[in-house]
Amino acid sequence: MTSTGPILKTINLSRIVNTQNQPKTIIDSFSFEFERSKIYNIIGATGSGKTSLLRLLNRLDEPTGGQIVFDGQDYREYPPCKLRYKIGYLFQIPYLFPKTVYDNLLYANPKLSDGKISELAVHTRIENNLLKSNIENLSIGEKQRASLARLLAIEPVIILLDEPTSSLDPTNTAAIESLIKDIVLTKGLTAIMVTHDPQQALRMGGTALLLDEGKLAEWGTCENVINNPQTEIGCRYKNKALK
Ligand SMILES: Nc1ncnc2c1ncn2[C@@H]1O[C@H](COP(=O)(O)OP(=O)(O)OP(=O)(O)O)[C@@H](O)[C@H]1O
Ligand SMILES: [Mg+2]
Repeated sequence: MTSTGPILKTINLSRIVNTQNQPKTIIDSFSFEFERSKIYNIIGATGSGKTSLLRLLNRLDEPTGGQIVFDGQDYREYPPCKLRYKIGYLFQIPYLFPKTVYDNLLYANPKLSDGKISELAVHTRIENNLLKSNIENLSIGEKQRASLARLLAIEPVIILLDEPTSSLDPTNTAAIESLIKDIVLTKGLTAIMVTHDPQQALRMGGTALLLDEGKLAEWGTCENVINNPQTEIGCRYKNKALK
């Protein structure tokens, strides 16, 4: 790891897919520099490309054009499995194996000591008795905290989160939001989070990136992009979000 320059950089990143034998550009020349230890909120209307962008950043999908540079090194020089230890991905719906929370953490990283597992549990507010509970007996909020613990178990440098609170109630949503902020602050990770809720982006703080038809329409502080947009697309998004 180098310690200077952006942790992640995209240069004209693009993805074109074929739908009904027609090419469709779902990510369009997306260029951006993500800095270390920061929070980024990816916002935009449904279908604007938020999930598609996140999947490219984790190499779940391959770009059809452009480049991604992680910590100064081209993505293509990294084997995808090695990259996924550096860049973790949290899905919208908790996705865990039907075993205990402890088993799930150990599966993610077999080198974890019991002490480290306890530390992760404390950090993600998983009570000790829950560690040995089967995933099936956990509430949805507990499952999402367990998913977050599993994500941290691989000791990533960047965490990608796709609407991590969309299936949670306000109390569990607030818990996950504060956990993510805490992780960025204490572990120095970079969090790139997709949200369909501009209010959530404002609560998270940091930078907002507004996507529109796969293009980066506007970016800046959450406050500026959401409450004081400078582009026509930004104003349209604000008016729609306020309705
Ligand atoms: N593999 C694919 N094949 C064809 N079209 C795709 C594929 N993946 C995504 N798309 C299309 O790309 C566009 C962007 O999709 P994406 O899921 O990234 O949007 P999103 O911003 O995450 O939307 P939402 O807020 O509803 O989750 C959509 O029109 C979607 O139908
Ligand atoms: Mg999506």
